[in-house]
Amino acid sequence: MTIEAVVDPRRDPVPVGQHVHKVGYANRLMKKKRCKRRINKRSEAKVPMALQELYMSCREVFKGPGTVPLPDDVERLCHILDNMKPEDVGLSSELPFFKTKNAVNGTQRVTTTTIYKCDEFSLCLFFLPATAVIPLHNHPGMTVFSKLLLGTMHIKSYDWVSPPSAEEPVQPSHVRLARLVMDSDFTAPCNTSVLYPTTGGNIHQFTASTPCAVLDVLGPPYAKEDGRDCSYYKDFPYDAFSDGEKELTEEGGCVGWLEEIETPENSEMDWIEYLGPQIVEYRE
Ligand SMILES: [Fe+2]
Repeated sequence: MTIEAVVDPRRDPVPVGQHVHKVGYANRLMKKKRCKRRINKRSEAKVPMALQELYMSCREVFKGPGTVPLPDDVERLCHILDNMKPEDVGLSSELPFFKTKNAVNGTQRVTTTTIYKCDEFSLCLFFLPATAVIPLHNHPGMTVFSKLLLGTMHIKSYDWVSPPSAEEPVQPSHVRLARLVMDSDFTAPCNTSVLYPTTGGNIHQFTASTPCAVLDVLGPPYAKEDGRDCSYYKDFPYDAFSDGEKELTEEGGCVGWLEEIETPENSEMDWIEYLGPQIVEYRE
């Protein structure tokens, strides 16, 4: 199975929010089943198993906005994701998304598609050609599992030293102190990264050293109407806005300043292409 079977940019988008769609590789799989059931029954049955297992577990683990999965449930999802391979979502490094010609004004474009979305969680794939960047962004009120399926990627992440409160007036040019949580390279296959609403590096940036593919599980998904919009940031070293006396937090970690920036849609950062949801058929 090739990636085109799951993510085909030529295919018309389908509406988000429907729980079962017979699109993507599900249709092709059904056709194959009718023709070759007696010939290759065992291998066909294996194709969607990892994704199906992930979907079923997510249905049980994510309880909706305002909740965070319990430690045992986090471990359960990590175990599934840790064992997932590119083939489990039909990936191959020959995808057009990974080619360097996929650039706009010299900026390598990131491509994303949603393979499932409901009110409680979503499953999204991100494709990054080499040198592409997903800028620093947050996940308000969300728990996010990121599984690097292909490539080598640098992940930098922060948590607020003092999270902003809902009553706080919005100050667009205001910088806020953040604790550096992660600043490391990851190469697939590797374990799943998990971030939480206020810990684990909720504000993160992905920089592709080689062509990369990432599977993100977001619970709950972004929803602007529920206050879970995505904000973007630029980071500065601590001494950029201070006298340099405080370089470490109480725990010994590094700190820096984050400034909220315009969302890429409103700026010249034409870095991402949304393919629209390509939702496969899951068994209930
Ligand atoms: Fe993210």
